[in-house]
Amino acid sequence: MPATCVVGLQWGDEAKGKIVDLIGDQFDHVVRFNGGANAGHTVVVNGKTFKLSLLPTGVIRPNVLSVIGNGVVVYPPRFMEEVESLRAGGVDVSRSLVLSDHAHVIFPYHMEEERLAESGGSGKIGTTGRGIGPCYQDKVGRRFGIRVGELLHPNHLRDRLNAIVPVKNRILKAFAGDAETPKTMDASRIADEYHVYAEQLRPYVTDTTRLLHEAVAAGKRVLFEAAQGSLLDIDHGTYPFVTSSNSLPCGIWSGTGVPGKHLQRTIGVVKAYTTRVGQGPFPTELDNETGERIRRIGREYGTVTGRPRRVGWFDAVAVKYTAALAGADEITVMLLDVLSGLPELKLCTAYDLDGQRTQHFPSDSFQLERCIPHLETIPGWSEDITGVRKLSGLPTGARRYIDRIAELVGLKVSVVSVGPDREQSILD
Ligand code: IMP
Repeated sequence: MPATCVVGLQWGDEAKGKIVDLIGDQFDHVVRFNGGANAGHTVVVNGKTFKLSLLPTGVIRPNVLSVIGNGVVVYPPRFMEEVESLRAGGVDVSRSLVLSDHAHVIFPYHMEEERLAESGGSGKIGTTGRGIGPCYQDKVGRRFGIRVGELLHPNHLRDRLNAIVPVKNRILKAFAGDAETPKTMDASRIADEYHVYAEQLRPYVTDTTRLLHEAVAAGKRVLFEAAQGSLLDIDHGTYPFVTSSNSLPCGIWSGTGVPGKHLQRTIGVVKAYTTRVGQGPFPTELDNETGERIRRIGREYGTVTGRPRRVGWFDAVAVKYTAALAGADEITVMLLDVLSGLPELKLCTAYDLDGQRTQHFPSDSFQLERCIPHLETIPGWSEDITGVRKLSGLPTGARRYIDRIAELVGLKVSVVSVGPDREQSILD
C-alpha cells in the first residue's frame, strides 16, 4: 500500500492543507491520527470557504473516505458543527467520513481544567483552550478517559460520568485555588447532553483500525494528515511547550493502528520562514519591524484562536532535526512570496549554546532558550513572484534561497508555494 504522510516540520501552521489539497486526488483515504480541534485549516470549495479544525482537510473531496483515527481527541459538538457547516455549503459527508470508536472524548470539565491551568501566571503553555491536554491526560491516566464507543451506551455513560464528575469538581476547585471560582459540573446534565451528541455521531462511528487494515490489504492509497508541527510533538518537540500528542509520523502507528512499514513517502512541509503560537523558546524570533512586516503580509494570525503568531527567520537547525525524526523524503517550501521585497534574508545554520557552536537542536526548552542563532545572510529579491510557475522563473535571490534551504536540510525541495491558490505552486 503506497501510504503517504504530510507533516509540518516547524511549530505548526506550515500550510500543510495546501499540500494535502494538491495531492489529495491521488488517495482513497485521508486519515487524521493526532490532536483535535486545536488544528485549523481553511478550505475553499466552489468559491465557498470552510474553516475546519477537527475534520481532515480531505473531507471536501467527494471520492475520498476521511478517517478520524483513535489517536484523535473529539469534542462532539465541534464535530457536528463542522459536518453541518459543510452540509450547508453543499458538501455531504454522511457517507465519506468515519470516526474511531476508540478516539477519546472531550468533556466540558476538560476545557474548564485547561482554562484554570492556563489562567495562572507560571506554567502557562499558551494552549488553544480546546481541552486537548486534559483529555489526553485522562486517556493516559486511564481512570477518567471516555472513548467515543462508550458514548453509544447511555446507561454505561451515565454510570461513568456519575463516578468521574464529582472527582473532577474537586480537581477543578483545587486548580482554581482562592483566586477563581470554577464552573461546577453536573454529571446528569452532561450525560443528557452527550446522549444527544452520541445519536448524532452514531452513523459515523466505526472500528477504523479494522477499516484501515482492510484498506491496506486491498491496496488502497492512504494519506496521513499530521496535525500541528513536529516541534510541538509531545516526545520530540520543545517540551513542555508542545501539544499533548505525537504530531510526528510516529503518531500514525499508535493513532491509527496502521504499522509503520506501510509508509512509503513522507512529505515535510515548511514555511520559508518560521512561526510559532503560544509560549516557548524561539531562537530566530524577529521581535522587530521585519517580523511585523512578515506577520502582516503572511497574515500570520492563528486560525483557531486568532492570536498573532510569533515570526522569525527560517531555522535550518530545527528543520534538519525534525526532518530526521519524520523520515522526510522531501520538503515543500510554503509562503515564499511573503518574503519578496526584503533587502536581505537570514537563515539559521547553527546555534551558539553556552559558548559552543552546535548544529544539533536541543529540544529541551530550558536549553533551547539559551541558544543564540548563527545567521547567514542571503540577498533578497524585489520582484513579485506570485505568478511564477517554474523554478527557472524565480529571481536569482529566491532561487538561491531555496537552494540553500535544500542544501542545509539535506533534502530536495519538491514544491515551492508562491500564493494561496492551488495553481500558485512550483513543482519540481
Ligand atoms: P494545545 O494543543 O491546545 O494543548 O496547545 C499546545 C501548544 O501547541 C500551544 O503553543 C498551541 O499554540 C500550539 N498549537 C496547538 N495546535 C496548533 C496548531 O494547529 N498550529 C500551531 N500551533 C498549535
